[in-house]
Parts: sequence; C-alpha cells; structure tokens
Amino acid sequence: MTAATVLVGCPSGDPPPPDGLPPSASAVCGTNLCLDLNDPLNAALTMVDGALTVRAPKDTILIVRTSTGAAQAVSDICTHAACGVRYDRAGKALTCPCHGSRYTLTGAVLRGPATQPLKRYVTQLDESTNLLTIML
Ligand code: FES
Repeated sequence: MTAATVLVGCPSGDPPPPDGLPPSASAVCGTNLCLDLNDPLNAALTMVDGALTVRAPKDTILIVRTSTGAAQAVSDICTHAACGVRYDRAGKALTCPCHGSRYTLTGAVLRGPATQPLKRYVTQLDESTNLLTIML
C-alpha cells in the first residue's frame, strides 16, 4: 500500500444514493477497492459484526467485519435470481430476502434454492492505518 492512495467519498450530509445502498466512502485504489475506516461513512465496519454494502466497478460487495483484524467480502448478488443478500447478524450468515437462500460469510451455499456460491473477494485490513482493501 502506498501513502499516495487517494480516497474519495461522499461528503457527509449527502442523501443516500438512489439505489438504496447506504452511503459509504470507498475508492478504486490501483486494481482494488479501498475503504478508509476512519471515515464516518464507513463506521459500520469499525465494530465486529458490522456490515456495509459498497458499489464496486463491476459488482456490489457486502462486507462483514468478522473480527478486530479481519473482514469478509462477497458479492451481494444472490446466485439464484440476483436479489441483494443481507447479513443476518444473529445467524452469522448471509440471507436472500427473495426466496430464502442462505450463505456462509465466505459465500458458500447453506440453503437453496441457490446452488452456486457468492463471489468471494480477498480482503486486507491494515489496523495501523484503518484501511480496508478489497482485492477486485
Ligand atoms: S434470488 Fe436469492 S434466493 Fe432467489
């Protein structure tokens, strides 16, 4: 990671994006997606069990903070019929509201009708800078 990474985010106070995603601050950094967890728009990911959905150039990615030093990231597009999956905090799983598919936090299918896993992204969390990198 270079010190010259530039993060671009929505200024606080902006209305939520029209597609229903909560506001977040992320930016393409090289070939990856970077989130500055110091930005209040990414506050959900500063706590274990926090989750945030962010727009990537070719996907929408659901990120769950799974421990103080790690996060899991998967495509939020259900492989059954493309609804957006959500984090079930109590069940520690991802669920699809459309037809009930369930996935592990790494995207493996727990229950259908989906039969294919969610696309998984490797993540890297730098605890010294609070920068989360999603490898695209
Ligand atoms: S679209 Fe997700 S279970 Fe059907």
